[in-house]
Amino acid sequence: MFTDRLQALTEEVQPKVVEWRRYLHQHPELSFHEVETSQFIYETLQSFGNIELERPTKTSVIGRIHGRPGKTLAIRADIDALPITEKNAFPFKSQNPGVMHACGHDGHTAMLLGTAYVLSQLKDELNGSVKLIFQHAEELYPGGAEELVQKGVMDDVDWVIGAHLWSPLPIGKIGIVYGPMMASPDTFTITIKGKGGHAAIPHEAIDTIAIGAQVVTNLQHIVSRNNNPLEPLVISVAKFVGGSTHNVIPGSVEMMGTVRTFNPAVQEEVAKRMEQIIKGITSAHGADYTFNYIKGYRPVINAETTTKIMEELVREIYGDEAIDYTAPSMVGEDFSAYQQKAPGTFIFIGAGNPEKESTYPHHHERFTIDEEALEKGVTLFSRATFRFLNQDA
Ligand code: NI
Repeated sequence: MFTDRLQALTEEVQPKVVEWRRYLHQHPELSFHEVETSQFIYETLQSFGNIELERPTKTSVIGRIHGRPGKTLAIRADIDALPITEKNAFPFKSQNPGVMHACGHDGHTAMLLGTAYVLSQLKDELNGSVKLIFQHAEELYPGGAEELVQKGVMDDVDWVIGAHLWSPLPIGKIGIVYGPMMASPDTFTITIKGKGGHAAIPHEAIDTIAIGAQVVTNLQHIVSRNNNPLEPLVISVAKFVGGSTHNVIPGSVEMMGTVRTFNPAVQEEVAKRMEQIIKGITSAHGADYTFNYIKGYRPVINAETTTKIMEELVREIYGDEAIDYTAPSMVGEDFSAYQQKAPGTFIFIGAGNPEKESTYPHHHERFTIDEEALEKGVTLFSRATFRFLNQDA
């Protein structure tokens, strides 16, 4: 049976998958600058044979494995790292100062390379083709996914799947979410312009600190008073800069923050309400403002059909106890760009294990994964390919 062959190939490639992950971990590169990473991916895929290769942008790689004529499944891995100085002590820690794979994208890349190896050996069994998307720049807006979609990468794709290694989820668990999974991560900047002056003579100034404080407080009324309480929404002012000393009222303050929601209608409404509030408060106190609202990635919303397939597959391979119906998260992910083009599902692969010190949060300077999770990624992606294309395995 070819599931046995698939299993044997997965086991065979496993030491390489760990090796690739460690190599990538040692050589992290920032978003849009994944020059060596993408070259490494290209050459590794080339070494397998049976894979048609493409470079739609400078630092991305698309591999395609053709079986018999049929439909196309896309599998996506993101490949970029973060501007963080690694504090792990293991021998394969980052050799690139100030840059670190602190989100597990090294593991995502290694898992998809492993999957590419397995499927390249089984290509004659495939009723259709699989597209392996090694995507640059997930961590930095406007992101690599949208760019690849613009280049037509999704034009001939029927379904798309992807996974995130997830340290909050214990090793052995696979996180499944139906519907909304990750939020749209919008950003905003507000500048309030008043009139500077002596802090002891406030009536001759227009106090931007006092006005700014009211703006911060009132923005929360959108969440608590305007928004349907059953609709998730976050508005956070995360930066508030103004003033220089104890006795001077500053002439301006600047704020930055983020808005998170799963619902495009809420997103539209929030941006409008924010401006009304800023305008109302500043004009009531004789100040001016600028307001800049930038929409981030779209929310990740998993399709019912593809999610059902992934859930059943996890259940068959790892049993009921492996399934974790993970709560949606207000973090963002540009996997959503692919879901605009085809039904798709994003899953979490548990990678947390206290014994291996892999429970630090994502983007932490000591983040790492339990490497046992990598094999699960290869197994799930390879088996899913046959399930989608052949209704098999
Ligand atoms: Ni990530």
